[in-house]
Amino acid sequence: MITTVSDFIETGNIMIIPLFQNTLKAPNNTTTGLSRSASITVKSAISSDSFEGKEGEIMSIWTKECQIILLGMGGSHKLNTKKSRDIGAKCFSNLPDNLGKKIVVRFTTGWNTGNMASFAEGIILRNYKFDKYQEKIVDEKQDKEWSMVCQTTKRNRENLDLEIERLSAIATGVHLARDLGNEPANRLYPEEFGRRAKDWAKGKKNVEVEVWDFSRLKEEGMHGLIEVGKGSIHKPCMVFFRLNPNLDTEKQVPCIVGKGITFDSGGISIKGSAGMDEMKLDMHGSATVFGLFQALYATGYQGRVNGITCMAENMPSAEAYRPGDVIETYSGKTIEVLNTDAEGRNVLADGLWKASELNPSYIIDLATLTGSIVVALGHEATGLFANNDLLSERIKMVGDEVDEICWPMPLLPAFEKQMTSSKIADVRNQGKGRWGGAIQAAGFLKQFVQERKDNNGEKNQIPWAHLDIAGTAGIWGGESNSTVGHGATGILVRTLHLLITKE
Ligand code: BES
Ligand code: MN
Ligand code: ZN
Repeated sequence: MITTVSDFIETGNIMIIPLFQNTLKAPNNTTTGLSRSASITVKSAISSDSFEGKEGEIMSIWTKECQIILLGMGGSHKLNTKKSRDIGAKCFSNLPDNLGKKIVVRFTTGWNTGNMASFAEGIILRNYKFDKYQEKIVDEKQDKEWSMVCQTTKRNRENLDLEIERLSAIATGVHLARDLGNEPANRLYPEEFGRRAKDWAKGKKNVEVEVWDFSRLKEEGMHGLIEVGKGSIHKPCMVFFRLNPNLDTEKQVPCIVGKGITFDSGGISIKGSAGMDEMKLDMHGSATVFGLFQALYATGYQGRVNGITCMAENMPSAEAYRPGDVIETYSGKTIEVLNTDAEGRNVLADGLWKASELNPSYIIDLATLTGSIVVALGHEATGLFANNDLLSERIKMVGDEVDEICWPMPLLPAFEKQMTSSKIADVRNQGKGRWGGAIQAAGFLKQFVQERKDNNGEKNQIPWAHLDIAGTAGIWGGESNSTVGHGATGILVRTLHLLITKE
């Protein structure tokens, strides 16, 4: 979406006028450019009792110039970036698309840059459809793409313009993550993900993508990834993302690891059929990593960052791994497989150990890991587990700031103990019962984060956080995240972008 910032001149095809509660009289600039009669109608509508300005309230007025939407924002002192983003997104999702696609948003009085930018961001994020597999009826008379002009007074314009430019660049990463998440599993399998990552890196000077294919994984001994993926005709791979790879190579930098199961059938421990189609989204951790790198690149981030995605398809077949198998992972630790459907942790075991080898400042993994986190938090929040309080607090804080809630969950030692109590291997991939399943999984992952000596010569684990996005990666039914209508959400691209760039 092309978005510009300007003075109150144009009227566009659809003019959105967001107004605060208790606006008794049309603010300055409200009707600039409208005909006398339209202007009188709009002004009297604003003054009337019919429009109160309650949060999300909409009054639509037809004029010769454009369709006008009076949009309630609630009390002006109660407005914050979250509300503003939400109201903008919801308003956009209800716009008719046959009136022309040029939107004008008039920010009259009572607006600050943050709230204006968030309003625009909501619209930009919501302007997304995954319709590449649908036949399109082209209407020659219609604009293809939406565009938006944000109008405000002179003193705000420069700042708003810069901020919208930044948010638009981040949104390209969110939309990329959604594209990858929505792509069906017959179109996007591990090697195809690797190919797209390589394609993306082409021609970009400060990014590097490396793909370790099946034979390389064997050479390296990455059997966590190999065992999960070997039952599929689409073989597994590991993808490395590097931003500014040659910069400050001595400095410790973040490493973000993503679970990339392009389809999770459960394998031999096969899932039931209901909702199994949603398991094409089981690679959203890897989609977020890819989208994050796009967002960092597009905003011109100057630091070095590493990403690793563990790509595999979990299928049942004569060549698939089985319950009872013992896997020797890249770390040297062995896993007793009790359930082939607990596959995400097996692939992440190799990803986390590899991440540790890069001597990172911290490791964050993203994974649609457990149904159990959905039971705990529904679709409202991502489960946040960490071995480091400072890292956990920082993630929670930036998540709140961009309204992607990360809710702290405990790494309870009792569950960790369950995972290390295999009778025949170092760890087992399933706990001793259903209870606390998300914590069990986190306790398993923790076994694959390396320790290192800190400045005092003490051995400590590398700071690490695990984000279980099983409930927040996709929207399928009635529930809604205002910035997404259906399917993959692109969750945590914005949070991690802020976390990394804020340092
Ligand atoms: N990919 C699933 C988790 C999932 C569930 C993601 C719902 C998105 C929505 C994961 O691989 C899985 O199957 N987990 C099992 C683990 C169990 C077998 C220990 C689960 O949560 O049931
Ligand atoms: Mn599974
Ligand atoms: Zn899975």
